[in-house]
Amino acid sequence: MAIANLRIQPRFPTWPVYLAGLIPALFYVYQIFYGDLGADPAKTLEHAMGEWALRFLILGLAITPLRRELGIGLLKYRRAVGLIAFLYVVLHLTVYLLLDQGLDWPAIWADIVKRPYITIGMAGFVLLLPLAATSFNAAIRWVGGRNWNRLHKLVYPAVLAGAVHYVMLVKSWPLEPLVYLAIVVALLGWRVWRRT
Ligand code: HEM
Repeated sequence: MAIANLRIQPRFPTWPVYLAGLIPALFYVYQIFYGDLGADPAKTLEHAMGEWALRFLILGLAITPLRRELGIGLLKYRRAVGLIAFLYVVLHLTVYLLLDQGLDWPAIWADIVKRPYITIGMAGFVLLLPLAATSFNAAIRWVGGRNWNRLHKLVYPAVLAGAVHYVMLVKSWPLEPLVYLAIVVALLGWRVWRRT
């Protein structure tokens, strides 16, 4: 139920959100030099960046329902959250290309074509590219508000692809990827229900 009178409009600027979003990345940079990334550092980094990407993508999807249902106005932070999410997707992909595959392009191509969870993850990344490219004020003006809104609906299949990719890569049925997928489906289902 919407709580119409509750309008929480935070006053603080967006830069602390960018800074907070960088904390997990900085934590792992620290771990690379001074900490312990376990027996398989590449996998640890790949997993961590993938999970943070998904968390921020979900946070971005939650902003509109939070505003409509609870009156929590975080709209001004949506671009920051989206760009942080994209940063973690890029870091995740970079770890995969560089540390996991050693920039062996034929092997990478074979992986994309043959392993469905990589195909779907890659589709998620490609769908996010136009959003990242049009996230700056000049690009928004150039594309035009209405087209920009339409274009940004690509985030829905992109986040779904990310969550499905996570469920597909695990061999058994652990709870965590299913919880992420359930949250994504609920946030997308809310949009269908509210026709937004
Ligand atoms: C929207 C984009 C993406 C999201 C949200 C995402 C998210 C995730 C998540 C949450 C995990 C699991 C982390 C864990 O186990 O804790 C993961 C693993 C992985 N992702 Fe992605 N991913 C994306 C795109 C990609 C792309 C483009 C690639 C490579 C082409 C990729 C390759 C991998 C690999 C290789 C793993 C680890 C698999 C293993 O454990 O062996 N992902 N990803």
